[in-house]
Amino acid sequence: MLQTFNEKNRDLLVNINGELIHRDKAGISPFDSAVQGGDAVWEGIRVYDGRIFKLIEHLDRLVSSAKALAFETIPSHDEITSEITRTLEANKMRDGVHIRLTLTRGKKITSGMDPRLNQAGPTLIILAEHKAPVYAAAVGDTGLSLVTSSIRRFPPDCLDPKIHHCNLIQSILAKIEANHAGADDSIMLDQRGFLAETNATHVFIVTGGVVETSRLVACPEGITRETVLELCDVNGIPHAERDISMTEVYRADECFTTGTMGELAWVGRVDGRTIADGTRGPMTARLSTLYQELTASSGVRVVD
Ligand SMILES: Cc1ncc(COP(=O)(O)O)c(C=O)c1O
Repeated sequence: MLQTFNEKNRDLLVNINGELIHRDKAGISPFDSAVQGGDAVWEGIRVYDGRIFKLIEHLDRLVSSAKALAFETIPSHDEITSEITRTLEANKMRDGVHIRLTLTRGKKITSGMDPRLNQAGPTLIILAEHKAPVYAAAVGDTGLSLVTSSIRRFPPDCLDPKIHHCNLIQSILAKIEANHAGADDSIMLDQRGFLAETNATHVFIVTGGVVETSRLVACPEGITRETVLELCDVNGIPHAERDISMTEVYRADECFTTGTMGELAWVGRVDGRTIADGTRGPMTARLSTLYQELTASSGVRVVD
């Protein structure tokens, strides 16, 4: 799966600490913590018809990640939201938009990892792009193809996945493995060998009508994951969070991934093995419809 350039994004204005700058000119200092050490937190959020789905949950996760990294200053939800609105208005955007929100520890007085070198406050970057759910094209008639990566997800005592940070190298290495294997993404296991997630999304299986996903051991607190579990709750669909082995994935009736960028995407093959009969299953279809109904009817209005 390779995303392509969207002409509509040619003249984007990017918001860096309140300044709206053309994408070709936008940049941050070489002294910025994101450049120096990936010392930053981020969110991927999506705009539906002028509303951001689960905005508060995304901002809460951004702030709690920044707190976990002991950022000294963290902008308020209101400050971030009003900058998002300015960015969308400046780009005349209101639908089919994905925003990459990055908060770095900010500029350092000299290069080095010590957070005490950060004396200028954080850097807030709002990058809004026209972007349809990214897996739509890859799914096609055969669903996503996943391969199991040799790279394990960290447990909380190595690098807590509850911190949604910008050190994405572990995920990028897993993505490189998927690319070389001709797959769309990699499945990543935890250190015990149980399913954690993919390099970019959470994974669900459906077996005998029960919707299941891995516990929050080696994967982040996913907002789409949580939404799907809530949808199961509200609609009386049996569901569980538990340790899942790859055997259980291979023999599942259905498998799908979740994430803000790609919503729900059904999986047709894992490690070259076809899941069930290789078609999109009824539970995945039902949950996708329920999810789309929710994104169409809820969210925080940010532009008219
Ligand atoms: C590693 C990882 N897994 C899963 C997800 C999906 O999470 P969400 O549903 O909150 O977008 C993300 C999104 O940022 C992620 O970075």
